Amino acid sequence: MNALRDAIDSATAVFADAGIDSARYDAEELAAHAAGTDRGRLALLDPPGDVFFGRYRELVAARRSRIPLQHLVGTAAFGPVTLHVGPGVFIPRPETEAMLEWVLKAARTQGFPPPSVIVDACTGSGALAIALAASLPDARVLAVDDSLTALSYAQRNCADTSVELIRADVTAPGVLSELAGRVDLLVSNPPYIPEGAELDPEVAQHDPAHALFGGPDGMSVITPLAALAARLLRPGGLFAVEHDDTTAAATVETVCSTGSFDHVVSRSDLTGRPRFVTAVRNG
Ligand SMILES: C[S@@+](CC[C@H](N)C(=O)[O-])C[C@H]1O[C@@H](n2cnc3c(N)ncnc32)[C@H](O)[C@@H]1O
Repeated sequence: MNALRDAIDSATAVFADAGIDSARYDAEELAAHAAGTDRGRLALLDPPGDVFFGRYRELVAARRSRIPLQHLVGTAAFGPVTLHVGPGVFIPRPETEAMLEWVLKAARTQGFPPPSVIVDACTGSGALAIALAASLPDARVLAVDDSLTALSYAQRNCADTSVELIRADVTAPGVLSELAGRVDLLVSNPPYIPEGAELDPEVAQHDPAHALFGGPDGMSVITPLAALAARLLRPGGLFAVEHDDTTAAATVETVCSTGSFDHVVSRSDLTGRPRFVTAVRNG
């Protein structure tokens, strides 16, 4: 058991040296993955053998080179769900859970009738769509993305759910026209980072650029999305869109400029940074 503890301590030091903030957590997660168990059960393991230590060394070397932890273990947790992720799909972020929680609370407690048609625009691995479908089982949930690779992960993640996947460009004029005026809730975590922003190696080298960047000002997908939400939502329907922490004002402005929304509000994530805007379709 000491050999395992020593290996985890030494991996923690390697990761801290490499500039990884969550060094201890990552060292333990990778040890659990190599041993085929959960992190909470590491202390209960029989002393592992050479095969474990060989595998662990490889994983530690890969993480040290800043390959994301989630790519090495093959999954990412998001709210109540665990998603398959890997190269070519965006890794769901805790920041987005703040928007998920707000939307679920609104759907349950703020006088908003239970949504029966929900659209997750820019679904990636399917994170928001699957979490919403799990919490609102009577709703029809449509999840849209234009990346075949992202959709292949979403398809795997949605296998045992009722989520419907659609391949479409959410910025295209007239997209999803069959849903015009029929949607109760449209959520989106779109690409929104302004081009040129400095990013950690895990993000810059391993999240797809198409999932990250929203043009020079970060607004190239958010602006057409606001118009899409105006077109698809029924009067009283709810729009929630995530944005960069530098573009709260621009996002509020672009949503207001459609002339189709009331109650346009900038909201913060768990770290207190402005992270998403919510609005109610008027009319
Ligand atoms: C930031 S990722 C978010 C993924 C997911 N919503 C999440 O929170 O984990 C943005 C996603 O938008 C997709 N995307 C980018 N531009 C798009 C467009 N014009 N139409 C549809 N999907 C788009 C990308 O393929 C990527 O999967």
